Amino acid sequence: MGSALSFSEFVPANSIAAGRPWALDMLRFEEMERPVILQIFGNKLRSIEEAAIAVLERRPDVIDLNMGCSAREVALNGSGAGLLRTPELASAMIRSLVRIAGPEIPVSAKMRIGWDGFSRNYRDIALMIEDSGASMISVHGRTREEGYGGIADWDAIAEVKSMVRIPVIGSGDVSSRLDAENRIAQFGVDGVLVGRAAMGNPWIFSGIRRSALPREQITSVIKEHFLDMLTFYGDHAVILFRKHATRYAAEFPQHERLALLSCETPSEFLDRLEECAQAEKLEATAIA
Ligand SMILES: Cc1cc2nc3c(=O)[nH]c(=O)nc-3n(C[C@H](O)[C@H](O)[C@H](O)COP(=O)(O)O)c2cc1C
Repeated sequence: MGSALSFSEFVPANSIAAGRPWALDMLRFEEMERPVILQIFGNKLRSIEEAAIAVLERRPDVIDLNMGCSAREVALNGSGAGLLRTPELASAMIRSLVRIAGPEIPVSAKMRIGWDGFSRNYRDIALMIEDSGASMISVHGRTREEGYGGIADWDAIAEVKSMVRIPVIGSGDVSSRLDAENRIAQFGVDGVLVGRAAMGNPWIFSGIRRSALPREQITSVIKEHFLDMLTFYGDHAVILFRKHATRYAAEFPQHERLALLSCETPSEFLDRLEECAQAEKLEATAIA
């Protein structure tokens, strides 16, 4: 849909290191997804190092250390944004990743701008990431305390960009293709990440407005996404897909949206989706 690169979900290093099949499964990707960044998180140097070996076997284009996740069970455990409070450990992890990855696969890190309002240590963290040998930094312009609330601080992201020589990718509140272009121009970053605004709206990357698309085009992308998830996750995809379906169908009439969200089997979902595609056609014929 026009995205320049994709990140994997963050995968726990200790589970990769222990060879847990579900964790290794989370590292799967298709060739067409390249360039692809595989992201790991952890609070122990040893497990990051062991995980790196298994991750690198997948030949990602980049390996990334998560220093941004704000979820309690992650951050309070010293992983994700918890690493903002232990820069020496984070530095050791990045140095190890760089050594293990070698010259062919670059290492990057994804950070927040601090733990809380009293500890906005993004300058030190960004310099540390660069000094430790990383090739790129992604910055989510919120503290861990802010979670996903409020407005991301893009001035802090711009400050990071001005301080380091490696590429900086900005993250937080990007709402459209035009918004992405404006932020790149205004804040000088090398790229932006699109998170929440891409859910149910993959057209965001190419700048097409979802509301301008015919219903059939929307349902055909929903179907493609659903079938991919079915291949990847099996029948459980019906439940997992609900978070996407609710956003894709945000502008559908309520009864159609509810029909999609209450399906229990893949064939039921595909039937309901087909009805949604047909409903629009019938409405259009009736109006004509
Ligand atoms: C449901 C969800 C899952 C996320 N998972 C990850 C993740 O695994 N790794 C990561 O670095 N950031 C993750 N993020 C954070 C986003 O990458 C991004 O930095 C943040 O959502 C702010 O950008 P946005 O306003 O465009 O959503 C996640 C965000 C959401 C909403």
